[in-house]
Amino acid sequence: MVKVNTNFQRLPGSYLFSTIAKKVSEFSAANPDKQVIRLGIGDVTKALTPTIVKALHDAVDEMGQDATFRGYAPDLGYDFLRHAIAENDYRGKGCDIADDEIFVSDGAKSDSGSIQELFSADSRIAVTDPVYPVYVDSNVMAGRTGLYDEKAGKFEDVIYMPATSENGFSPEFPKEEPDIIYLCFPNNPTGTTIPKERLQEWVDYANRIGAVIIYDAAYEAYISQGDVCHSIYECDGAKTCAIELRSFSKNAGFTGLRLGFTVVPKELKRSGVSLHDMWARRHGTKFNGAPYIVQRAGEAVYSDAGKAEVRGLVDYYMENARVILGGLKDAGYEVYGGVNAPYIWMKTPKGLDSWGFFDYLLEKANVVGTPGVGFGPCGAGYFRLTAFGTHDNTKAAIERIRSI
Ligand code: MLT
Repeated sequence: MVKVNTNFQRLPGSYLFSTIAKKVSEFSAANPDKQVIRLGIGDVTKALTPTIVKALHDAVDEMGQDATFRGYAPDLGYDFLRHAIAENDYRGKGCDIADDEIFVSDGAKSDSGSIQELFSADSRIAVTDPVYPVYVDSNVMAGRTGLYDEKAGKFEDVIYMPATSENGFSPEFPKEEPDIIYLCFPNNPTGTTIPKERLQEWVDYANRIGAVIIYDAAYEAYISQGDVCHSIYECDGAKTCAIELRSFSKNAGFTGLRLGFTVVPKELKRSGVSLHDMWARRHGTKFNGAPYIVQRAGEAVYSDAGKAEVRGLVDYYMENARVILGGLKDAGYEVYGGVNAPYIWMKTPKGLDSWGFFDYLLEKANVVGTPGVGFGPCGAGYFRLTAFGTHDNTKAAIERIRSI
């Protein structure tokens, strides 16, 4: 009789955003007259921009004719997109990244879940607390953690690095030595950043102890302050210790199209083995490439018109961030983030815990957010709102929250 992967049984409940979606559907079914505003999951609401839509249409037309039809995409990504990414996101910004160090994928979520496959089962992971749940859950599934301690809200054998208002959301180096360090800046869920000099310290630390940093930069397009790195490769020595994950979802609105990429520098080696070669091997075996039409749309993001349109999308959502941040501050809430990121992290009021505030807000204001504790125990007593709504919904949500 087959045995299942019992590591899955260590995972408590369902995936955070599935739990929230279920609660909201139940509420809506019981209250069909209520107009619920969703500022929970970080999903975009603005349509794809004209340049992207044209690139998609053109690529569909190519696929509709024998002469220009494409079958399987190259598993590591089409050269035209790898080149556009390396040139625009890296070399044009002073980071020496080659085209073939870019691995195109169907999104940063898949890559952030899969990247752990490169490391041995006994590697220790370190994550910030709170943290995007995929980093931890994917390591639980792979058997790299101990059991879940319900009371502490933590997995055994995972190093949690608190990021709270007390330390300015800038985690300390852990006391125990990690092998894999997950960092995400601008941060999901707190919407906060660290200055370049602190990121440089993380890079130096990882190189010193031989760890690898998995750097999730999915929200880099939202950075507005000068001392924050858009890429970890702006730090000296990052190419020997860091893998970077990027997404087209949050800047260009590709949440439904699916496109992302991972940068694995050739200089990154551990035990004499090239992680670049390992990731290429893994991609070749498990992935048949992101769709041609979507990669052409990704290429269009880097055209002059595409860049201007993406800037417009980011500005649109950041206007929401300003409305949320300002509105909540005026109303006396303690709020963080929202300056270099489309997330606002607030302290829950009235002595309510994170899920208590979730229920209260849904019930009284018909507004959905994300309970901070869902991202880890240090998220207890916090709540996340996303700036990815429409202007009208965002304004209405803040008015409702202010009035309860
Ligand atoms: C979030 O709400 O945290 C994000 O949408 C999750 C994701 O990008 O997968």
